[in-house]
Amino acid sequence: MELYIDSANLSEIQAMASTGIISGVTTNPTLLAKEDPTLDVKELIKHIHATIGGHVSVEVISTDTKGMLKEADEILKWFPEATIKIPMIPNGLSAVKELSKQNIPTNVTLIFSPGQALAANNAGATYVSVFLGRLDDIGQDGVAVVKETCEIWDRHGLESMIIAASIRHPIHVLECAKAGADIATTPYKILQQLMKHPLTDAGVASFIADHEKMMSAKGGK
Ligand code: G3P
Repeated sequence: MELYIDSANLSEIQAMASTGIISGVTTNPTLLAKEDPTLDVKELIKHIHATIGGHVSVEVISTDTKGMLKEADEILKWFPEATIKIPMIPNGLSAVKELSKQNIPTNVTLIFSPGQALAANNAGATYVSVFLGRLDDIGQDGVAVVKETCEIWDRHGLESMIIAASIRHPIHVLECAKAGADIATTPYKILQQLMKHPLTDAGVASFIADHEKMMSAKGGK
C-alpha cells in the first residue's frame, strides 16, 4: 500500500520525502489555511511537487459543476500535473465525468460510505478518498467502511484507487492496508509514529554504547 502525506507544510513534506516512504501529497483548503498566509499557494504547491515528484491533489472550492471545471482548468494551467480534488456531491460527480472524458485525474473527497465511493467510481474518479477518522469521531466505524468499500472493489474489479483518508493513528494505516486500500494519506505525526518503535531506539543506543566500550577497551584502535 502506498503512503501519501496529508499536509501542506513544506518542511514536513521534505522530511518525509527524504525517507523515501511517501509517493504523494494530498492537500485541502484547511491544511493550506494552516500555513503562513503570506505564502503564494501556487508556488507552494509547485514546490511541493518538485520535492516529491509524485501525486499531488489540489482541491476546488466551487460547489457548482461549471465553477469546478473552471477552477480545474485554471489549476491545470499553472500546475499541469495536478490531480483535481472534488467534493462528493452530485455537481462534483458531473465535473468528474467531464474531467474523466479529458483523461484528467480526479480525487473525489469527503466520502463517508461505500455507496458514495461506488458512485464516484462510476462517474470516472481516478481516486476515491474515504474519510475514516471523521466517522470514528462521530461514533461510527471508519475502518469498517474502508473494508466494505474494498470488498465491493474486489468483487467487481472496480478501477478507482481507494485512498484511506482522515487517518488518526498508525493502527488505522495497518487496518486499511489489511483491508486492501491502495493508498493511505497520513499526517506527518502518524508517519513518524509508523516508523518508530522504542525497541529500535533502545537497540540503536545499546549497539552504539557497546561499540564505544569495545573501542575504548582496544585503546581507540
Ligand atoms: O485527506 C483528508 C484529510 O485531510 C482530512 O483529515 O483530519 O481533517 O479529518 P481530517
